[in-house]
Amino acid sequence: MMTTPTKTQPNTAQPNTTIIDSTPPADTASIIKLTNISFAYPGSENKVLNCLNLDIKQGDRIGMMAPNGSGKTTLLHTIMGLCKPETGCIEVLGNPMETEKDFTRIRSRVGLLFQDSDDQLFCPTVLDDVAFGPLNLGYSRQQAIDVSRKILKNLGLEEFEQSVTHRLSGGQKRLVALAAVLAMSPAILLLDEPTAGLDAAVKKKLIHILNHLDITYFVISHEFDFLNAVTDKVYSMDKGKILTDDEIHVHRHEHIHKHGKHPHIHK
Ligand SMILES: Nc1ncnc2c1ncn2[C@@H]1O[C@H](COP(=O)(O)OP(=O)(O)O)[C@@H](O)[C@H]1O
Ligand SMILES: [Mg+2]
Repeated sequence: MMTTPTKTQPNTAQPNTTIIDSTPPADTASIIKLTNISFAYPGSENKVLNCLNLDIKQGDRIGMMAPNGSGKTTLLHTIMGLCKPETGCIEVLGNPMETEKDFTRIRSRVGLLFQDSDDQLFCPTVLDDVAFGPLNLGYSRQQAIDVSRKILKNLGLEEFEQSVTHRLSGGQKRLVALAAVLAMSPAILLLDEPTAGLDAAVKKKLIHILNHLDITYFVISHEFDFLNAVTDKVYSMDKGKILTDDEIHVHRHEHIHKHGKHPHIHK
């Protein structure tokens, strides 16, 4: 099994936060808990999140499949403190997120893989991009390089270490962005459409990586086969609320009909 960043990270590093309790909680504890979250974009009446509840526990591997515009990305940005809800409570690793300072402290523990890798990668080389997070956490340059090399090796990307990030293919960028997120030793990964634009080979690699990481994650995707391969349950979103797998029944039609072999969600 691939070693997790949590396990591979040296404990000698001094993160720039000392107040927050970022100890991974016990097995059944919540990593992320949203209670009654409502959010509308400024100037809009549309409640993208409407009294939404979500509880992601340690060890969960949850998929999210919902139509475009249903608020999936907004949900992840709310968890990260990038969208500020009007009502409700966000708890990360048992800590209530009330101020920008709370989010700043916890952000390195929640690894968001952006929908567009170019939003995530901004350094000249792959190694710089992956080492950026650990350096920001207070690691020495050598520690940051060591951690980054280890992660790049785990993901089979060591040959790209000195590559110019913006010249990589979309698939390579996605994996480098994942390496950059993992280098922060997050307690949870939030993945926003990670297979978008990937060819079959990179998709297969991503499935392999996720299945060999010992980490809690929540992954948004339109691709049922992908979600089926990497998650234990699939949620949906409707009218600003989460529908858990108790409330929906997601299955794949194995027979051929006029729409082909598309997944269906029955409420
Ligand atoms: N920055 C923004 N400003 C205003 N409205 C937005 C913004 N981002 C998204 N929206 C709107 O919020 C709704 C949810 O969008 P989004 O969270 O991106 O959905 P999804 O990720 O499920 O496709 C959509 O109606 C979208 O048009
Ligand atoms: Mg989206």
